[in-house]
Amino acid sequence: MLETHNKTMDEARQGEAYGGQLEAEKKFEKHFYIESYGCAMNFNDSEIVASILNEHGFGATKIIEDANLVLVNTCSIREKAEQTVRNRLVHFKGLKKNRPDMLVGVLGCMAERLKAKLLEEEKLVDLVIGPDAYRTLPNLIAEAETGQKGVNVLLSREETYADIAPIRLDSNGVSSFVSIMRGCNNMCTFCVVPFTRGRERSRDPQSILREVQDLVDRGYKEVTLLGQNVDSYYHTNDDGSEVVNFANLLELVALVSPKLRVRFSTSHPKDITDEVLFTMKKYDNICNNIHLPVQSGSTRVLQLMNRTYTKEWYLKKVDRIREIIPDCAITCDIICGFCTETEEDHQETLEVMAYSNYDLSYMYIYSERPGTLAARRYADDVPDEVKSRRLDEVIALQRKMSAAIFKSDIGKTYEVLIENTSKRSEEHWSGRNSQSRVIVFPKGDYNLQKGDYATVKVTDATSGTLIGEIVAV
Ligand code: SAH
Ligand code: SF4
Ligand code: F3S
Repeated sequence: MLETHNKTMDEARQGEAYGGQLEAEKKFEKHFYIESYGCAMNFNDSEIVASILNEHGFGATKIIEDANLVLVNTCSIREKAEQTVRNRLVHFKGLKKNRPDMLVGVLGCMAERLKAKLLEEEKLVDLVIGPDAYRTLPNLIAEAETGQKGVNVLLSREETYADIAPIRLDSNGVSSFVSIMRGCNNMCTFCVVPFTRGRERSRDPQSILREVQDLVDRGYKEVTLLGQNVDSYYHTNDDGSEVVNFANLLELVALVSPKLRVRFSTSHPKDITDEVLFTMKKYDNICNNIHLPVQSGSTRVLQLMNRTYTKEWYLKKVDRIREIIPDCAITCDIICGFCTETEEDHQETLEVMAYSNYDLSYMYIYSERPGTLAARRYADDVPDEVKSRRLDEVIALQRKMSAAIFKSDIGKTYEVLIENTSKRSEEHWSGRNSQSRVIVFPKGDYNLQKGDYATVKVTDATSGTLIGEIVAV
């Protein structure tokens, strides 16, 4: 999944607490402050929560001291993610000493996993709300204001928040996330998501198209369609008529505007079809970038993980992508040191990485999650130092591949969507090409702005950034 954990925590925090619609803020008597952790879907959920709260009289604030309500939207994917949140909750509890009226609520995956525990045993928070229960937030807040603690962690088979227009938090006004489905029906044995997010359900395509059209009307130039497994998107009308699969949806979104870039994440290798690849090829505005997590290169480990594909099957999928979309960037997630992983298994992961030539990977040490199939069935038996050494090797290989890919772009010309002024220099723009590689280039005398496209020739590269110059606008 497109995760935001590659940011440093400080960067993430700055991004998470937001000023939002500042001019609109004045009309609110009460204010909420929200921090988000975890994947892009979780960040998008915070935007849904912001919308629900706005409707019920709460404006957003970036300043925690001004907040009547402090919310943390949490992630359970690895133990470290939960520890980070716990530290924040302890900090917020400290703040309550001077401000007893301030309410603290925990949202998201940790709320779902730990349920009332955070409230009863640990007495850390006033509210606990799971990912499918955000509509009940205003009622729970009202109860909590009278001193009753509120919990709702019911999961739903239907909830998609389709009718709620997310309030864009910390947005650059150019790119936005759009959730197209919720939950996950895969049972990867290492993963907590099926337990915290419930069953998979696809959002009504018309509501997705309305949201995308609204973004286009407001000047946005890029959407990323989000789901734990977007290729299994499947929507039928109540009477079973009109089937819309992911390839169909991708096409419908691409047709909203030729100037709108369309991205998506995440693709489970077992579900991405030729139909999706040909749809990507057909529309220039669908970006050439596929996030295709392999997790491990060993068929034996993949079976233990219940990923349902083999090493060979995965490599054939990579071949097929390269055949249909030759300049497609492929990115990956890798877990090092899953239960029983041997040196040979690890070497196979390195082999698959080298063959697939990933632009970028998110690389993790296996972290056992209570209640998952792996925790119940297998011993977490790879020693920590072996896990770390394997992770280092995986990271080193990825660095080498990324550097070579970026270097081979020198001399090429790309259409770049301008996203921001460069963090390093006021005189430079920062944007991305279709493959999602970041390109920094001088603003020059062109009268361009965020959200414009420029044709940029790559003149140099570091391991993570391309340097270029405008050749046409
Ligand atoms: N639905 C997405 C994954 C979402 S979680 C997919 O199938 O790709 C994002 C990534 O976190 C996973 O791809 C996996 O690499 C990693 N991850 C999940 N559970 C983990 C665990 N228990 N330990 C370490 N990494 C894990
Ligand atoms: Fe987790 Fe697997 Fe579902 Fe991804 S596809 S969210 S890794 S269970
Ligand atoms: Fe996302 Fe973390 Fe939940 S990755 S789905 S917020 S466990």
